[in-house]
Formats: sequence, C-alpha cells, structure tokens
Amino acid sequence: MDVLISASILNSDLANLEKELRRAESAGADMIHLDVMDGVFTESITFGDYVVRSLRPHTKLPLDTHLMVNDPTSLIPLFVNAGSDIITIHAESKCDVTACLKMIKSLGVKAGISANPETDVNEIFRYLPLCDSVLIMSVKPGAGGQAFKEESLRKIKAVREEADRLSVHLDVEVDGGINEITSPLVFNAGAKIAVVGTYLLNAPDMAQAIKLIRNAALQDAPL
Ligand code: DX5
Ligand code: ZN
Repeated sequence: MDVLISASILNSDLANLEKELRRAESAGADMIHLDVMDGVFTESITFGDYVVRSLRPHTKLPLDTHLMVNDPTSLIPLFVNAGSDIITIHAESKCDVTACLKMIKSLGVKAGISANPETDVNEIFRYLPLCDSVLIMSVKPGAGGQAFKEESLRKIKAVREEADRLSVHLDVEVDGGINEITSPLVFNAGAKIAVVGTYLLNAPDMAQAIKLIRNAALQDAPL
C-alpha cells in the first residue's frame, strides 16, 4: 500500500523553519504537518497564519494544517489565504463543526476532522461525508514526543470501515508517537497518512527514517 508521511515540525528548530522545511522535503516527506495551538484548546501556543504564509514559498509540499484551537471558525479563511492545502479541525472544538468543514471545502482546500484520544469515534461518523481525511490523535494534543496510545488502532480501523461502508473517499491520518514500531500497526489498521515528528527529528538520517516508515506499510503486522 502507498502511504504518505506528513512531517511535523513542532519539535524542530523553530528559529530555523526554512532550513527544517528543506530538510524534511529533501528527506522525502510527502507533506508538512503544521500544529497550530491557541493556548486554550492546548496548554501551549505555537504559531498562526502569518508564520504559515512565510513558510509557503519555501516548500512545494502540501501544508497539512492541524488546528488545535478552541474555535476555528474565524481562523479558517486566514489559514486558507496563508497557503494551507489541508485544514483539519477538532470534533471537540467549540464551533459548528459541520459549518466549518463546509467552509473549508468551499474555500477550495481539503477538509479534515480530528478526534482526541478520549473521544468516542462514533461521534465523528456523521462528519465523514464532508471530509477528505480523518486525523486520529494517538496522543493527547499539545506536545510532540509522547508515547503512542494503542487504543487508537481500533479507532483507525473503525473509521476506515465506516468510510468504506458509506463509500466516502477519505484518508485516515494518525498523529502522535509514530516510529518504526508503531507505523506497521497503524498502516495495517487502515491509516494512509502518518504524521511523524520527533522520530524523524531525532533520526541520524531522516531520509532513512522516512524509508523505514514507508516500508512499514508493506509489513504484515498483527493488530
Ligand atoms: C501533538 C501534535 C503532533 C506532534 C506529533 O499535539 O498534533 O503533530 O507534533 O509529534 P510526535 O511524532 O513527536 O508524536
Ligand atoms: Zn498534529
């Protein structure tokens, strides 16, 4: 199965973002994952649309923008204008989720819905027909470098099965704690896109680490 690697720059050298983008792109990443945090939905604050706009000319890769914010409604047009290619909002955000997903699509970019580890996956099924991707959080949102939560495998499988049952063409993406051990498990469960942060940043050779993750999709790992 062909899989996609979305390189998260959250734990990279944020003082040298241009260099970090080039490093991920030349190592073979398929997308750049941008973690936007507002200090309300998450404890930390990261960056906003002005930073995304500055990054846009420095990579050809799609910008996979993950909005971990309390209310994404007014932010969506800003991130579209800044150059995001995919905008993922959270089912737990305080907004009209359906209206926000429709707004993302109407502005011409791909729409994603994300569910936190404690959220019942059935709660997001109603949004599937409006989505291009579903981002299953396999860690608590807010920080890189956490351990993968095994319970997310069941959720990946459930979303994949429900989307197939509804004949909805979407990709399942997984975010948090992905490495050479957990990647075969998530791909085998039905994930198509893996967000990978600290594993790539800590790898002695990022290109090799990306290859290892990609090859994991070919392994037959038990669930
Ligand atoms: C966590 C973020 C993740 C994070 C993943 O809130 O959404 O995208 O950067 O990083 P790792 O791969 O280190 O778990
Ligand atoms: Zn993320």
